[in-house]
Amino acid sequence: MTPLKLRLQAFGPFAGKEEIDFTALGSNPLFLINGPTGAGKSAILDAICFALYGQTAGADRDPQQMRCDHASEEVLCEVSLEFMLGNKRYAIWRSPIQERPRTRGEGVTIKRAEAKLWYLDGSDEGVLWVSKSVNDATNHINTLLGIGVEQFRQVMILPQDKFRELLMADSKDRESIFSQLFETHIYKQIENKLKEQASGIKQAVELHQSKVRGILEGANLDCREQLNIEIESLIPALFQAKSEKDQAHGEVQKQQSEIDKAKTINRQFDELDAKRTDLSLINKQNNDIEVKKALLSQALSAQKIYHLYTNNVECQAAYVSASKYHEQAKLAVSNARSQHRQALSRVETAKLNAGALDDFKTQQIELKRFSHQLTKLSDNKERVTGATAKLASSSQALEQKKCSLGALASELLKKEALVISHTHTLEQVTPLQQALDKLAQKHNERSMLDAISADIAKCLKQQRIDQAQLDNLAQVFEKACTIATQTEIAWHMGQASLLAKELSHDKPCPVCGSKNHPNPAHEDGSNMLVSKEQVGEDRQRETVSRENMQEAKDTLATISNKLETQQNRFAEHSQQLGQYAQMSLAQLEQQQADISRKLASLTNLQLTKSKLNKRIIQIKAQQASSTDDLLVLEAKASNDNNAMIVAQTSANELAAQIPKEHHDAWQLSQSLQQLSATIEQLTVLLREAQTDLAKKQSSFDQASATQKTLLNGLHGQEIRSSKAASDWQQALFNSEFSDTKHFMQAQADESQQHALKQAIASYQTELDSLNAIVKQLWQRLSNKQRSDVSSIEQGLNANTKISAEKDKIWRDLEARYISLVNVSDKLVKAETQNETLNQQYSVIGTLSEVANGNTGNKVSLQRFVLSVLLDDVLIQASQRLHIMSKGRYQLIRKEDRAKGNKASGLELEVHDGNTGKPRSVATLSGGESFMAALSLALGLSDVVQSYAGGIHLDTLFIDEGFGSLDSDSLDAAIRVLVDLQASGRMIGIISHVTELKEQMAKRIDVHSSRVGSSISTIA
Ligand SMILES: Nc1ncnc2c1ncn2[C@@H]1O[C@H](COP(=O)(O)OP(=O)(O)OP(=O)(O)O)[C@@H](O)[C@H]1O
Ligand SMILES: [Mg+2]
Repeated sequence: MTPLKLRLQAFGPFAGKEEIDFTALGSNPLFLINGPTGAGKSAILDAICFALYGQTAGADRDPQQMRCDHASEEVLCEVSLEFMLGNKRYAIWRSPIQERPRTRGEGVTIKRAEAKLWYLDGSDEGVLWVSKSVNDATNHINTLLGIGVEQFRQVMILPQDKFRELLMADSKDRESIFSQLFETHIYKQIENKLKEQASGIKQAVELHQSKVRGILEGANLDCREQLNIEIESLIPALFQAKSEKDQAHGEVQKQQSEIDKAKTINRQFDELDAKRTDLSLINKQNNDIEVKKALLSQALSAQKIYHLYTNNVECQAAYVSASKYHEQAKLAVSNARSQHRQALSRVETAKLNAGALDDFKTQQIELKRFSHQLTKLSDNKERVTGATAKLASSSQALEQKKCSLGALASELLKKEALVISHTHTLEQVTPLQQALDKLAQKHNERSMLDAISADIAKCLKQQRIDQAQLDNLAQVFEKACTIATQTEIAWHMGQASLLAKELSHDKPCPVCGSKNHPNPAHEDGSNMLVSKEQVGEDRQRETVSRENMQEAKDTLATISNKLETQQNRFAEHSQQLGQYAQMSLAQLEQQQADISRKLASLTNLQLTKSKLNKRIIQIKAQQASSTDDLLVLEAKASNDNNAMIVAQTSANELAAQIPKEHHDAWQLSQSLQQLSATIEQLTVLLREAQTDLAKKQSSFDQASATQKTLLNGLHGQEIRSSKAASDWQQALFNSEFSDTKHFMQAQADESQQHALKQAIASYQTELDSLNAIVKQLWQRLSNKQRSDVSSIEQGLNANTKISAEKDKIWRDLEARYISLVNVSDKLVKAETQNETLNQQYSVIGTLSEVANGNTGNKVSLQRFVLSVLLDDVLIQASQRLHIMSKGRYQLIRKEDRAKGNKASGLELEVHDGNTGKPRSVATLSGGESFMAALSLALGLSDVVQSYAGGIHLDTLFIDEGFGSLDSDSLDAAIRVLVDLQASGRMIGIISHVTELKEQMAKRIDVHSSRVGSSISTIA
């Protein structure tokens, strides 16, 4: 990820809009972010991290707190970052949750955090991937960068006071960072898969063992050996039980067959008795059967002449019926004739009425023509009304347009007047701005005057103190001087008295040569006490106090000089300030505030003016378009007027063509309806009478034809009836029946005949069958007798019981044997499966243990892979650390495994070249830790870059830390960073170390002020 452009507003110490164009620093630059303490250097990193992840770089600052307190409340706190990933560009924008003034009314509302993410595909807008949701934006960034915010904080930036974290991370934390950077999750998946498989096999083994236990328990066995013993012992007992069971079973079968035979013979005797009884019963039915045979014979004779009988009956009935139909037809002919006459007279009447039809039709045509003209007239009137309405509406629109044009013209005049007035007022801006600048300058100068005045007061106070000190020391000196002189005089007096002791009269004095000694010195007690050393000591004290006094004099002179200088500066500044010198800082600030307020109101006025100008342009455009509209509306109104006149003329002409009495459309339509109804009624009446006449004629013709046909039929039937009567009488005479009644009694239909035949036949069949069975049974039982079955059955019951008992004993033994053999089979299978599972576990289980780091060295597969990658990183890191530490340190991986169960394999140590021993990184000094962390971060980005993953660590920001290096180490660190530029990485160093500022040409300077910070870029 390489940042291209960072824009921030009201963020951290930055009150307004700030932009950093990283591209202006050149490709892969090494640059310095410089500025005084608290200027906002770290805040730049916070802004980058916030734009990407919605969290700050140090994690201690809540994004919600990042809204700048200097910013005015209308300004939104927001950050946007344009960045590059590989060769693709993206832009992200975020604003944290913050208070915003209400758009209407007073007070504030809470604006929720928002984010937008674009893929910049080269188009103006780019492609908007996320439009609002902060979580969506963060998820996209996580996927794009391939690292989360925690990793970002450790590998893309070394945040202030936090760089040791990467160095000191334990295996677990480092694994989490590295696995994401090197995308080694596949190895973790292998570990998990192996673990899963091993635990699956283990579970299967346990399941198996419990299954084996279940099998044995199910057979009430404790172990495999008990099973074998029981099977061995069961086999002879099973053979013995089987032979006893078979013997008892044979006995039972034998007795059973005896009983079956006895029962069969007894049953045959019973059957013979029953059949004989049946035979005697059936012989009693013989008379009935003879009567049935006679009835059947008569019925068959009657059946032979039955057709002649029925033919005669039918012919007689047909003749009667034909006579009846003929009479009815005659009646129908007479009815039809009378109806035909009535219909004829109705037609005559209808024809008479229809004579006036032609007149009515002529009238109808005339009225229809008037009705048509009336419709046209009504259409024309509607057209006139429509045209009149259109004309009215277009005239109204025309008037409105004229009015709006007038309003626009008057608004334009007012707005133009206002613009002129505002322009006039706005002329004050420049003088006010100048006055404000001047006041700011005077405020600074006035502050300085106060500072000088305070300094003067301080100097005066010090001067008084120094003068008092000098006076004091002068007194001390004077005293010391007097004491030293007195001591010296006393000493001299002492010496004189010693000389005087040696004087004798007439001997010259060794001092003055006089031989006369009128007043020789003599010892008084005090002179004798003073020694030469005492004189020296007092003189020494005198010299010290003189020096002290001189020193105090010098101090006083220095402060007096300073006082004089400051007083001169005060006078000079007072003169420069002129009238402002008399004003207080508060007054000056009040004046500044007044002018600022005025300027703010003028800025508002400027805004109003530009709005007015915009409105004027709008009005002019509206005027132009309204004038065009006006012309169109005028043309439309004239067209509408012409259309109205044409419609009116045409309506008048039509009205003249229709007689006055037919001008009422409703009445005309009523008359027309009545006339049409009359014509219709007359036409219908005539048509109906004619149709009825035709119908009646046809009915009459049909009735006459029917009568004729029926008369012919009647004659034919008369001849057929007399022949049928003579045939029947002849047949009856020739039959066994005395008369028709006798014949009728002998009648039997098909079913009755069938029943008679059936009864006769079944009687005969049953009789024959019984005779045959009795004969057969009699022959079969000729030399046999009935047996006593119950006594044999008693013996059988006893034997059956014995057999059942033997059978049960055998079955129980056999069931136990089969169950034990099954158990044995199952155990054999289970043992085979168990063997297979154990073999599998010996491979998979061992692999899982090794891959999951459960063996001696506690290094899992993923961690092993990561440790190899870490070694690569450490090779790169050590090269740099070696240079920075002037050949002393190298980073190495800790080989000892961690204590207890803690995961190990990714901890770091340093190898100290001075001692030749490795030791913990925790023992490094502050500066050394910084160098080590920096080397590690650089090594990491080297290896991640060269690793074929999707993550680009092509940027590194280092926030402070350089302050902890001595100048040699600093030089070495900078040399390393300069060398790195060639490897295609952007490196930003945050520091206020002065040497760095002198060494680095490319800089982002952060300037702080009382009203917020600002940024400038020096490329
Ligand atoms: N919401 C805010 N409104 C105004 N100022 C703020 C806000 N939040 C933080 N600040 C101030 O912004 C400044 C920026 O701090 P930052 O940590 O960026 O400084 P720095 O330049 O890194 O300083 P140092 O050299 O000490 O690390 C601090 O003075 C801090 O008090
Ligand atoms: Mg900082």
